[in-house]
This record gives sequence, structure tokens and C-alpha cells, in this order.
Amino acid sequence: MNQEHPAPPPPLAEVSLPVQLGRLSLPNPILVASGTFGYAREMQHLVALDRLGGILPKTVTRQPRPGNAPWRTAETAAGLLNAIGLDNDGIDAFIAHHLPYLCGLGPPVLVSIAGRNPPEFVEMAEQLDAQPGVAGLELNISCPNVTGGVDYGTSASACQQLVAAVRQRCQLPICVKLTPNVTRIADVARGACDGGADAISLINTVLGMAVDWRRRRPLLGNVVGGLSGPAIKPIALRCVYQVAQAVETPVIGIGGIATIDDVMEFLVAGATAVQIGTANYYDPTVTMRLLDALPGALREAGVSSVSELVGTLETSRG
Ligand SMILES: Cc1cc2nc3c(=O)[nH]c(=O)nc-3n(C[C@H](O)[C@H](O)[C@H](O)COP(=O)(O)O)c2cc1C
Repeated sequence: MNQEHPAPPPPLAEVSLPVQLGRLSLPNPILVASGTFGYAREMQHLVALDRLGGILPKTVTRQPRPGNAPWRTAETAAGLLNAIGLDNDGIDAFIAHHLPYLCGLGPPVLVSIAGRNPPEFVEMAEQLDAQPGVAGLELNISCPNVTGGVDYGTSASACQQLVAAVRQRCQLPICVKLTPNVTRIADVARGACDGGADAISLINTVLGMAVDWRRRRPLLGNVVGGLSGPAIKPIALRCVYQVAQAVETPVIGIGGIATIDDVMEFLVAGATAVQIGTANYYDPTVTMRLLDALPGALREAGVSSVSELVGTLETSRG
């Protein structure tokens, strides 16, 4: 063998990263979760934004909202409690100031919306449908930090009616983001699917609280808040598994994902794509790391595409 010119290593087997969520096509399954990535502009010097599988900006509401009183966040042993309260400037300001930048980045932009009632959801969906470049919607019916934030996420029939109303008046693909704070999440997911959802996003934060016993006070101004980060990963995995078993509609896994093993676990459990949330706060480059590692992990799993791995969990329960 020629020592100066060793034979090149054999080419690595090609792996295919694009995934399909109903009518929504994504270049890869690594997205950023709403509320944890600002409007992406803030991250442009840290992240190659064009590599992301999709971007979900902070949830927008019909009218501007100041959000909740401080404190709005509190760290816990293995996660973060937040009670931001959907602080945003309203959909008109979002469309004018943030959407053009977001839509110029390359990855699909899924706009997260939260209405106080079905007409508000429909109105915002119609507004966004008319904007060039929006790839889809995520209906946030799972925010634990605003009054009425989970009204449509805790009842299968209310969820179905809401999704159907939006679907009727808007051509965009629709993801529906559910709360884990229910008894049977698969029932609510079925409602979303019956209403015409293209994908189910699981999960939003888990209701929790933190206490300063010396002052006899809650740490959060809102008293209760939503727990995120590594602490909720097992809950999110369970929700993804239960919903993926119950419906044909694709699932997006969210909750405590920070490593490539986390990503692979969610795919095997039944998620077609994942969103990264809290990890962006302590490592803004986390998504780049995950994208670098994904092809190798898929090869290690012996598959040539993401979709080949989705839902391959084997259980003795069949
Ligand atoms: C500070 C903060 C703000 C959030 N804001 C929103 C939001 O506006 N809309 C939404 O759908 N989810 C919001 N979430 C929830 C995340 O998108 C995600 O569902 C949740 O944090 C679980 O994922 P993680 O453990 O990777 O963070 C927020 C989470 C955090 C930590």
C-alpha cells in the first residue's frame, strides 16, 4: 500500500434526512421550539439558521400582550419553570417586523398562534395564509400560563372543533401543540386529527411551581408555571409513544431534548421530527451539534432515512 497516499475511506452510506408531516415537508427533523429561540434574529451569529429543519417563533396572539408579572422564570434541579404569559406584540406587528426576516432564512417557518377563542384563531390563520413564505401553523392550545390557554387542549371535542374551524378557512398545514396536563392525551390528539391536523406537537410544559419558604412566597409572579428541560423528557416520550400508537397523524416530539441520543429515542418512540426548546438557553449551538451527529446515529441504527426509524420501538405489548 502506498504510505504517502493511503486509500480514501469508503464513502459513508447516504442517509436521507427530509421528513413529511402531513402536507408539510421538512428538510430534516431538527426544529426549534416556540418561545425558546426568540424570532431567530437573536441567534443568527451563533447558529447556521439555514441548516434547521424548521423554525417556530414565539407564539403570537391577536392583540399585543405584556405577559405576566415577574419573576417569570425559576431554575429547578433538572429543568426550568417559566410563566412568561405569551408576552408578544400581537400578530400585526409580527407580520410587519418579524415574518419577512424569518421567511428569508430558508427553513420552513411554522408560526405559532394562540387565540382566546376560535374566531381569533381563524382570523390569525387567515392573515398568515395570505403571507408568502409561511410554511405552516402551530396551534398553541397548551399554554399553562395564560387564562384560557388550555381550554381547547383539554377536551377532545373542543380541540376537534377548533382545528376543523381553522382548517376550513386556511390552506396552510396545521400542527396542533398539546398539553401533557391531561388524563388521556391520546383522546385529545384524536380530536385534533379528526379536525384535520397535519401533525401533533407533544409536549408543551408541565404545570409546576416553586416556593421560597423563608419569605413564604412563590418564586413565580404567576404562582404556577410550566416546567421544561431534562426533567420532562420521560413525560414527553410517554406522550409521544401513546399518541403515536393511537393515531396515524405524524407526531413532533418536544421536551428535554438536548443530545443526539434524546433525538433518536423520540424518533424510535414514534416522533417524525423533534423540537429543541430549553437546551437552546444553555447551549445556543445545540441544534448544530444534533444536526452534525444525526447522519452517524442513523447509520448506527442501520437505517438509510429518518422515516425508516420512526416508531420502531419494540415492546412485548405488541
Ligand atoms: C421560556 C419559555 C417560553 C416558552 N414559550 C412558549 C410559547 O410561546 N409557545 C409555545 O407553544 N411553547 C412555549 N414554550 C414551551 C416550549 O416550546 C416547549 O414545548 C417546552 O419548553 C418543552 O420543551 P423543552 O423541554 O425542550 O424546553 C416555552 C418554553 C420556555 C422554557
